[in-house]
Amino acid sequence: MTGARAAVEGTSTEVWHRGSTPASTIGPWLPEGALGASLAEGLIRVESALTTAVGSEHPFVREAAGHLMSAGGKRFRPMLALLAAQLGNPQAPEVIRAAVVCELTHLATLYHDDVMDEAVVRRGAPSANSRWTNSIAILTGDLLFARASDLLADLGPDAVRIQAQTFERLVTGQIKETVGAQPGDDPIAHYLDVLADKTGSLVATSARFGASFAGVEETLVQALTAFGEEVGVAFQISDDLLDIVSQDGASGKLPGTDLREGIATLPALFALAGNDPAEARLRELVAAPISDDADHAEALTLLRSSRSLARANEVLAQYADRARVRLDEIPAGDVRDALSALCDYVVTRTS
Ligand code: IPE
Ligand code: IPE
Ligand code: MG
Ligand code: MG
Repeated sequence: MTGARAAVEGTSTEVWHRGSTPASTIGPWLPEGALGASLAEGLIRVESALTTAVGSEHPFVREAAGHLMSAGGKRFRPMLALLAAQLGNPQAPEVIRAAVVCELTHLATLYHDDVMDEAVVRRGAPSANSRWTNSIAILTGDLLFARASDLLADLGPDAVRIQAQTFERLVTGQIKETVGAQPGDDPIAHYLDVLADKTGSLVATSARFGASFAGVEETLVQALTAFGEEVGVAFQISDDLLDIVSQDGASGKLPGTDLREGIATLPALFALAGNDPAEARLRELVAAPISDDADHAEALTLLRSSRSLARANEVLAQYADRARVRLDEIPAGDVRDALSALCDYVVTRTS
């Protein structure tokens, strides 16, 4: 048994109560009472297993692989897996393992994404590429994928295939974003398609794994998977909006990275697609990657007060509503209420 597997299977009180507070910083939507306590308990087990999964006998590998995990993070995907599992048996050991697989996959993509985006800060800490090098960041991401695969092997071939297909969609989304919309594509449809692939896919699988390994009935698993896909797209739209409006470092990332990289997110796409004279200068600025600091600051200022930003916020609210509609199939109760509160959170979050 590998160390990672041993930690997941640990059920001693020491493992359950090692941490005093859950590691998730996902925010005030978290439920209270018995449901909140069960989630907190699950998160402590996830955290313990994650710590083991990023470990290594090699000191440098241990430092690099543990770097982003210990820097913070909201643990959104494991939290959703644990919440979906509450509709069945959340104590099933596979639930924790599946939640860890989702966070490890996410973590690995962050190492790679920061190389792609030349990001210098992640989770309030130097990104791996800026602390070390692109090569170290890429290889460490690969190592984390390997650790996720090791845990997945014990979840069975169906889980391995679902994860493989999820990962393929995620990577395809990153590639489609990098290549950009092609002639004849609708840029906004392309953008939303990219978001479903790069982010909706793994959030959907987090909900799916949590529910299915808890023994939830198939129709509900499907509803939760569809919910995860929609709320995942909403989560990424809000991430893109935070890249524009976040001013105080609350996101743990450097705002304005998308503009510098020439990634036109929803507000910029609305500006580019329109012909509002008030947005003429904005259109000029966001048409290409912005490297000049003064242009960058001007573009952020113009975007923050633009009609296009307001329209993007409307689309965000629509996706959150679409996710909420999927909850009609979930039995009324505290789990459905918590999932509904999550829909509010993705619209209002500030970090
Ligand atoms: C960041 O994800 C990348 C996206 C898909 C939006 P999170 O916002 O979940 O990042 P952490 O895990 O909290 O750092
Ligand atoms: C990255 O999207 C999504 C994935 C890692 C799949 P972003 O580039 O917007 O994520 P952040 O803003 O760097 O976290
Ligand atoms: Mg990025
Ligand atoms: Mg972003």
